[in-house]
This record gives sequence, C-alpha cells and structure tokens, in this order.
Amino acid sequence: MPVKNVLKMGHPILQQVAEPVTDFNTAILDSILLDMYDTMAALDGAGLAAPQIGIQQRIAIFCVEDNPRYPDIEAVPDTVLINPEITLLSDEFELDWEGCLSVPGLRGRVPRCKKIKYCGYDQHGNLIERIATGFHARVVLHEVDHLDGILYPQRMDDMSEFGFEQELFPEK
Ligand code: NI
Repeated sequence: MPVKNVLKMGHPILQQVAEPVTDFNTAILDSILLDMYDTMAALDGAGLAAPQIGIQQRIAIFCVEDNPRYPDIEAVPDTVLINPEITLLSDEFELDWEGCLSVPGLRGRVPRCKKIKYCGYDQHGNLIERIATGFHARVVLHEVDHLDGILYPQRMDDMSEFGFEQELFPEK
C-alpha cells in the first residue's frame, strides 16, 4: 500500500533537519512522491513533507484546490518543492489557524509572515521561483518548517489558541 503511516509529534524524525536531495528524475524520488501524494490524499491534507512519512529528505508537496464551499480559502498550486529556500518579504505577520497531519485533531493560531519568496526544484530538477502571500505563504512556511524539524505549535506565541478541533469549532 502506498499510503504510509504519518509520524506524530514527539517522533524524533520530525525534530531533525532533513537532507537535501542530490539526484532528480530518479525512480526512488518518483516512488517517494507517489507515497506522499497517496498519503496526503487519503488523509485529506493540504500538504505533506517527506519526514512525516519517515523520509529525511528535503521534499514537500502541497495543493489546495478552489472550493466554492470555502470561498475564504485561496487556492494554492499543486506543487512538488524540493530543497526549498525561503526569503521573508514582509515585516508583517498574520495569525491564522493551522492543522497538521502529525498533530491530528488539534488546531492552533500561528503567526506567519504575510509575504515570502520561495525557490526550489520539482522532481525533474526544474527551478521553481514564486512570490506568495497570505494562505499560500502560510502553507509553504508550514511545510518547509517540517524539513527543519519544526512543527507549528513551536511557532505559536499564545498557547491558549491551541486546542482540539472539535472543541474550538464545535459547529463543524
Ligand atoms: Ni504539517
């Protein structure tokens, strides 16, 4: 089964800095990505980083489709992002809710930079270079943090805004 077990907060692999990918266009990379996409889809995630399935390499995927049911949520392009580099382009941070497949059932309000530039490579070694704001920037920052061994609760300032989804949002 390509759907992998997702490691949960507390697992040491989630606390380590992942290694850069050195070879592109390989069967191994394709197979890691297939597992990552199957796992993200099965768990209905917006993104996934390789360390979450126990692979200590700098690979992240993310995708948020336009959904008329959630008009406030911006679409984020379906992206394979390898060996990413982030540049913060704003001094302003904004707070919004995040969740994580490695912190199941919980949500927290996390400050994130409003505008970033991110670079990296796709699985073929093509350069990706984008400016992102708002939710798109948030998704990228969350996933790239995973590659540096950081989970979103470590980015929070106010732990009173960290809790179980069913208690925070009982209407859903
Ligand atoms: Ni996450």
